[in-house]
Amino acid sequence: MFKEKPVAPLDKKTKEEMTPPSEHDARFSEVLGGGEYDELLLALEYYDEFQAETGQALHEYLSHNCENQEIVQVLEAGPGTGITTIQLIKADPRVRIISVDNELKMLEAVKAKFANVEELQERVKFVFSDILAYLESCEDGSLDAFASVYTLHNFKPDFRRQVLGEISKKLKPGGIFINGDKYARQAQMHQTDFDGEINNYKKFSIHADELEKAGDHKGASHFREVQQAWVKHADEDETNKITVDEQNDIFEELGFEDIKWGKRFDLVTTVSAIKK
Ligand SMILES: C[S@@+](CC[C@H](N)C(=O)[O-])C[C@H]1O[C@@H](n2cnc3c(N)ncnc32)[C@H](O)[C@@H]1O
Repeated sequence: MFKEKPVAPLDKKTKEEMTPPSEHDARFSEVLGGGEYDELLLALEYYDEFQAETGQALHEYLSHNCENQEIVQVLEAGPGTGITTIQLIKADPRVRIISVDNELKMLEAVKAKFANVEELQERVKFVFSDILAYLESCEDGSLDAFASVYTLHNFKPDFRRQVLGEISKKLKPGGIFINGDKYARQAQMHQTDFDGEINNYKKFSIHADELEKAGDHKGASHFREVQQAWVKHADEDETNKITVDEQNDIFEELGFEDIKWGKRFDLVTTVSAIKK
C-alpha cells in the first residue's frame, strides 16, 4: 500500500520548517511564481498540447494496466498551478494524486484554483515538501505512477539523479514514469530548439507593446519583466540540462524498459518508461 506522509496544514508551518532554502528551489517564488506562472501560456502556443501528452501517456498505460485496481496512486512532482495535475486527473477516474511542491506561492495558487471543484479536492492531495524528501518517506514499490512536467529540469544534475533513483525504488514493478520536460538533443539541433524557445518569449514584449498603447504602463512593464525573467531562466537551465541520451542511459541503469519519447516542441518533449 502507498504510505502517506502525515501532512500538517500549510498555515501551521513555514517553508523553512519543511525545506531549508537550497540551490534546488526558489525559482518560482518571484515574478514567475504563483498564479502569474500561467502567463507563460501567452508565449508558448504548444503548452496545452504538450501538457496533454502527459495525461495521454497515463491514459494509455492505464488502458492496459492496473485493471483490477479501484485506485491508481500517482505521485506528481511540482504541480505548480495545477496545469499538469488536471491532465493526470482526466486520464482515468481511478487516479488519485499526491502532488508535492516545495514552493508555497505555487501551492497557494493551485489550492485556490482547485478550491471550488469538489472532484479535484477528493482526488488530489497537495503536499508542501521537497520531492526528494517526500520520495524517501514512501514505501518501496508503492507507486503505480510518477508524473511531472517542467519540474525535473530545474534540478542540479546530482540532485536530479538522486530523485530519479528514488522514483525507481518507489515505483512498483510494472509502474510508469512520465516526464514532460526540457530534454536536449545534439548540439546543432539543441541550438535551434533553444533559439525557438527564446523567440517564443518575444510574445511577451508584443503583448507589453499592446498594453503600452492602451495606456496600461504597469501591465506593460510587468510583461517586459516576465520576458526577461523567462530568458534568464532558460539561460540558467542550460547549465543543468539533461540530454535525451543521458536520460536513456539513466533508464537503463535504473532498470526501466519500454521507453517512449513523444512529440518535440522546441526544447521540450515527453518521455515515459516502465519499471522492470
Ligand atoms: C515550472 S513549474 C511546473 C508546473 C506544472 N507542472 C506545469 O507544467 O505547468 C515547476 C514546479 O516544481 C516545483 N519544484 C521545484 N523544485 C522542487 C522540489 N525540489 N520539490 C518539489 N517541488 C519542486 C516548483 O516550485 C514549481 O511549482
